[in-house]
Amino acid sequence: MALYTMKELLQDAQQKKYGIGFFDTFNTDMVQAVIRAAEDCNSPVIIGTAEALLKYCPFEVIMPAMLEAARQAKVPVAVHLDHGYSYDVVMQALRWGCGSVMYDGTREKDHADNVRISAQLARICHAMGVGLECELGSVGGLSDETGKEDQTAYTDPEDARRFIEQTGADFLAVSIGTQHGVYKAEPKLDLNRLAEIHAAVDVPLVLHGGSGLSDDDFRNTIAGGIRKINVFTDVILAAKEIIHADANEAYADAMLRAQDAMKEATAVKLRLFGSAGRG
Ligand code: 13P
Repeated sequence: MALYTMKELLQDAQQKKYGIGFFDTFNTDMVQAVIRAAEDCNSPVIIGTAEALLKYCPFEVIMPAMLEAARQAKVPVAVHLDHGYSYDVVMQALRWGCGSVMYDGTREKDHADNVRISAQLARICHAMGVGLECELGSVGGLSDETGKEDQTAYTDPEDARRFIEQTGADFLAVSIGTQHGVYKAEPKLDLNRLAEIHAAVDVPLVLHGGSGLSDDDFRNTIAGGIRKINVFTDVILAAKEIIHADANEAYADAMLRAQDAMKEATAVKLRLFGSAGRG
């Protein structure tokens, strides 16, 4: 199976109305776990890393690993940069061969800067045949390098329409009540808002904060137009449980069992998203 782009995968998902999982990785255990899950489920999948994860594994190591694993996979796999905050990191991801990148301009001082930089990057990405994901509103829960946590701000449908028109972004991450990380209270998703955003823009919509949501949340948001769902925390928690269970277990054995647990956690999501069987 060849390496695919996120655009190709999301086009099919858009036509057939299902969701595709995106999973962040920062080591080869995670890369293997996600691809093994996708192969077991015969499902397309998107893997990637994020600017905040580069301290655990730099582009030089994780990018060749992801790209080669994707080329060798028996199912379609796309490689993506998640949450690029700086121009430099987005440029580096393009150079490493990502088929799509996310520029997250929600931490810019004002909205006009998010629009201006997103539009600049869309031009560069499109010249290179790469798809650009942007975010409008803000999905809270992530912390910046000073430790300050992003606050949630819901996406306004009319702003979303204007943002896509002004920037030319290919995919839009929306804020409708999800959060990154472990939920402190049960998430309540604003499906009416999602319906309005879906009616206002025709690019594939992305849901961040895919861990800790219910099966119904996935069913409802995919029915409401979400095409890409980002998951990280649930996969990490599955590995952590194994690693902390037995302090005497050999490192290599613990790693293998953690990889199996991450594979299972990934496969559960792929089945829920409706991409299983479409590889
Ligand atoms: P979770 O860690 O909540 O699954 O969110 C993942 C995410 O949205 C990465 O961009």
